[in-house]
Amino acid sequence: MSRYKIAVIGGTGPQGRGLARWLVAGGHDVVIGSRSAERAGATAEEIATRTGADVSGADNESAARTADIVLVVVPWNGHHELITSLADALDGKLVVSCVNPLGFDAQGAFGLGVEEGSAAEQTQKIVPGARVVGAFHHLSAVSLWESEALLDHEDVLVCGDDLEAKEVVKELAGCVTGRPGVDAGALRLAAQLEPLTAVLININRRYKTRSGIAIVGIDR
Ligand SMILES: NC(=O)c1ccc[n+]([C@@H]2O[C@H](COP(=O)([O-])OP(=O)(O)OC[C@H]3O[C@@H](n4cnc5c(N)ncnc54)[C@H](OP(=O)(O)O)[C@@H]3O)[C@@H](O)[C@H]2O)c1
Repeated sequence: MSRYKIAVIGGTGPQGRGLARWLVAGGHDVVIGSRSAERAGATAEEIATRTGADVSGADNESAARTADIVLVVVPWNGHHELITSLADALDGKLVVSCVNPLGFDAQGAFGLGVEEGSAAEQTQKIVPGARVVGAFHHLSAVSLWESEALLDHEDVLVCGDDLEAKEVVKELAGCVTGRPGVDAGALRLAAQLEPLTAVLININRRYKTRSGIAIVGIDR
């Protein structure tokens, strides 16, 4: 497997931290990104302690500039502004969007309407020169951080228009689940994958669990 330099924008949050942990364990060179280099450094130290490997931290823009692959793991609120501010640093990169535009009300979680179709497509529109792939939407942050074992009962669904980029992200998914991610189609399918997380959140509340996605019926 290739070794990549991977920036995790929003890596100080539970989802970014959890994904970063497994990418580090998979042998990749990870830099945690944050709006505050100090916060990034603290999370990097926490992951280094957990994994026994070197992890660095930097402000989001510096992290994105030094990486081959940039994971975007931030809330939907503020997404457009953040991607716009990083557009130059993201140009030409493989950008993995893990963002779920969700709303919450008295009935629970639901997918928000997005003008561009999805968060991943919004990123592609703001940064046309990036190779945007959608992935890692459905993994629980708690499982990512707490599990001692690979999440090998779950699948990572991967969508994108650049086949080579999608293959790389399928391979990265293996760091978390122990098996390649599943090709779920073109980037426009992010409009289906992102709000699916709302279904999982409602299942979690109803059954008091951490549900996930597993695909049956395909040869691996
Ligand atoms: N939590 C889960 O279980 C889970 C599961 C699946 C998918 N996801 C998705 O993963 C993404 C991140 O989830 P999370 O729970 O880790 O989110 P979070 O804790 O709310 O945010 C992650 C990080 O994003 C940065 N951030 C927050 N607001 C921002 C803004 N307005 N502009 C720029 N950066 C901002 C913060 O880092 P700094 O303050 O250090 O910059 C924060 O630590 C979301 O889109 C979520 O839907 C989450």
